[in-house]
Amino acid sequence: MELAKQLALDQYATHINPQKVRVLKAAGLDIIESRREGVWVYDADGRRLLDCFTSAGSFNVGRRNSEIVSAMHEAVDRLDHGNFLLCSREKAELAAKLAEISPGNLSCVMFGTGGGEAVDFALKLARGATRRPRVVHTVNGYHGHTGFALSAAGRDAYRLPFEPLMPEFVKVDYGDLDAMAGVIDSNTAAVLVEPIQGEGGIRVPPDGYLRGLRDLCTDSGALLVLDEIQTGFGRTGTWFACEHEGVVPDIMTVAKSLGGSMVSISATIFTEELREFLIPNPFIHLSTFGGSDLACVVALKVIEIIESTGLVEHAADMGIMLHSGLSRLQGEYPEAILEVRGRGMMAGLKLADDSMGPRLSYSLSNHGVLAIYSGNEPSVMRIMPALVIEPAEIDFLIEALSGAIGDMLSGKGPAVEDGGRVRRRPQR
Ligand SMILES: Cc1ncc(COP(=O)(O)O)c(C=O)c1O
Repeated sequence: MELAKQLALDQYATHINPQKVRVLKAAGLDIIESRREGVWVYDADGRRLLDCFTSAGSFNVGRRNSEIVSAMHEAVDRLDHGNFLLCSREKAELAAKLAEISPGNLSCVMFGTGGGEAVDFALKLARGATRRPRVVHTVNGYHGHTGFALSAAGRDAYRLPFEPLMPEFVKVDYGDLDAMAGVIDSNTAAVLVEPIQGEGGIRVPPDGYLRGLRDLCTDSGALLVLDEIQTGFGRTGTWFACEHEGVVPDIMTVAKSLGGSMVSISATIFTEELREFLIPNPFIHLSTFGGSDLACVVALKVIEIIESTGLVEHAADMGIMLHSGLSRLQGEYPEAILEVRGRGMMAGLKLADDSMGPRLSYSLSNHGVLAIYSGNEPSVMRIMPALVIEPAEIDFLIEALSGAIGDMLSGKGPAVEDGGRVRRRPQR
C-alpha cells in the first residue's frame, strides 16, 4: 500500500477510531479519497472508482463540478461566512430561490449547517407552533445525530446510550398507515418521515402512504415534516420525492446536495402560517455558520445547474436505465438479489443476508465501484451515483456489479468483520 495512504489510515486509527478502520478494511472500504471528479473518485493509490455512495446522496451535481468550483473561487475573492445576525444579499436570494422550487406553499426558510440541525429546527418549530409535545417517527428512520433528530432515530443502537432523550417521541413501522392512525392524536405536534427511507435500506413506502399521512395530519392538526435530505434536488427523478404523490408537507428539510459537494449547508423550509411563531422572536433559533454567505453562493449555483441542464429529467431517464439493468442482474443472480428497490437514481439491492452487504462492497471496490451497504439494514446495497451520470457509466456499473456478485458468490474476499465480530462467509 502506498505510504501516504497507510499513514492516513494509521493516524485515523490512532486518533479517531481503530475499529472504524478495521470494519471499513474488512469491506474493502479502506479507501482514502484523492482526486474527485464528476461521477468518479480516485483512491490515494491511484485506483479509479465510480462513486455510487456520494456521501449518501450529497453529490447530485457531481463531485467538484467545474461550474461550482468557479463560483466558489469567485465568492472566496469577495466574501466570507458573513455576520449571521445581519441580513445578507446571498441568504435572501437563496431563501427566495428555495421558496420558488419548493412544493406548494413552502415559502419560508431557516438555514443550518447540516441535516441534523435542519431536522432539529423542524421539530422545534413544530412543537413551538402547535404547543403540542408528541413527535411520531418511524422504525429504521434516520434523521441525524443531533438532539431532536437523534430522539427520532429509528435504530436503538444510536439512541439508547444517550437516553433520556426528548420525551414524547413515538416510533411506528414505516409504511404502515394504520399504525400511524393509532398514535396521531390531538397531542401530536409532528409526524416526521423520509419520503423514501435511505439508511433504512432504500425503502419506498406503499403508494398512497404520503397522501395518507397528509390527510391524517390535516385531520388532527399535526404537522407533516418530510425529511428530503437524501431524496431532494432531483435524486428520485422529481425535484423532491414528495412530488411523486403530489403531497405538500408543512415542513421540509434539505441538506446534502444543496452544498454542491463543496460546502456545508442545510435548510428547513416551511409555510408562512408556521412562520407566525417566529415573528415575535426572530432570534429564537440561531446558527453562526448556517447559510453562510459563501455557502449560499454555492447553493444558488447548484440550483442553477440543476435547472439549466435539465438534471431532474436526466435523473429520471438515467433512473429508468439503472433500474432495468438492476432488474436484469436480479434475473442473473436470484440467489443473491432478492429485490431491487428505489426510485430514480436512489436504488437499493436487497441481498440474501446481512453479510452480503459488506462482502459486496468489498467485491465492488475490486471492480472499480465505491458502494456502501445501508447503515440500518446491512443486507441492502445502496446505489446512488451523481445525477450527472451518463449511459456508458451505467453500463460500466451494471457490468461491475455482475462481476462483483459473481466473485462474492464464488467465495472471493475476506471474512466479514461487523462491530468487532469476525464472521465466516456463508457457504453457497
Ligand atoms: C434522511 C436524512 N436526514 C438527516 C440526515 C443527517 O444529515 P447530517 O449528517 O448532515 O446531519 C441524513 C444523513 O445521512 C439523512 O440521510
